[in-house]
Amino acid sequence: MSSETNQKEKEKEKEIETEVEEHNSGMAAPAMDSAAVTNLHSVLNRVQQAAERSGRKPDQIRVVAVSKTKPVSLIRQVYDAGHRCFGENYVQEIVEKAPQLPDDIEWHFIGHLQSNKVKLLLSSAPNLAMVETVDDEKIANYLDRGVANIGRKPLKVMVQVNSSGEASKFGVEPLGCVELAKHIKLECPNLEFSGLMTIGMLDYSSTPENFNTMTNCRLEVCKALGIAEENCELSMGMSGDFEQAIEMGSTNVRIGSTIFGPREYPNKQTN
Ligand SMILES: Cc1ncc(COP(=O)(O)O)c(C=O)c1O
Repeated sequence: MSSETNQKEKEKEKEIETEVEEHNSGMAAPAMDSAAVTNLHSVLNRVQQAAERSGRKPDQIRVVAVSKTKPVSLIRQVYDAGHRCFGENYVQEIVEKAPQLPDDIEWHFIGHLQSNKVKLLLSSAPNLAMVETVDDEKIANYLDRGVANIGRKPLKVMVQVNSSGEASKFGVEPLGCVELAKHIKLECPNLEFSGLMTIGMLDYSSTPENFNTMTNCRLEVCKALGIAEENCELSMGMSGDFEQAIEMGSTNVRIGSTIFGPREYPNKQTN
């Protein structure tokens, strides 16, 4: 063997050794990001820019990654990329997913909640951080009693407002939000009133009028409850309109398809 070939083999061996060492010490180059992780980074970037345009810091806006219909493995990838806040619409999905995922996830429930599912929701997801969709006193009372029975810390809730006035939508009418917010604050000691949420239009888009309605609702609620605006969040904005929502004051955007891709409906589900 010539001395040149010998030298090359030695170099190759050294290269392999270094790769093995790096791998063993966890310093190997990270695997390629999944599409969901790439999408998450792009969303966070857009949130940052919209926050700056509205004169706020990006950490003043929470991104709820809506994982409805998405598998645990995909949620895990987004979790591993550092994201901690996820949203689900169906009790059955949270019940199945929450125990399979780390308990430092902050779950937001963003679907229509039926009173007979409250106990199951609270017991299956101790790390449920917020229910964004309280739309009448009955469900507020059920949640309040459920939290007391289970002995967990107070649960943050938002009042869902039907800001577009469409008959088939859930949520209190804008004029009813003060009364429900007052009920939660004064009569539900195990709930923490945290703000107002809207979906906007039936097709999951929103108009500036919907967002303006929410800003006015917040003014009225803060006045009636004697609280500062910072203590009354606005959950508005989804994939199609989150930047505009942020520019109009949203503190909590719920983003599904732009992070996870189109939703998949293998079987019809019920809440
Ligand atoms: C209440 C609510 N918010 C947000 C989303 C996410 O919507 P998008 O996929 O447009 O981001 C959904 C999706 O079903 C939803 O039901």
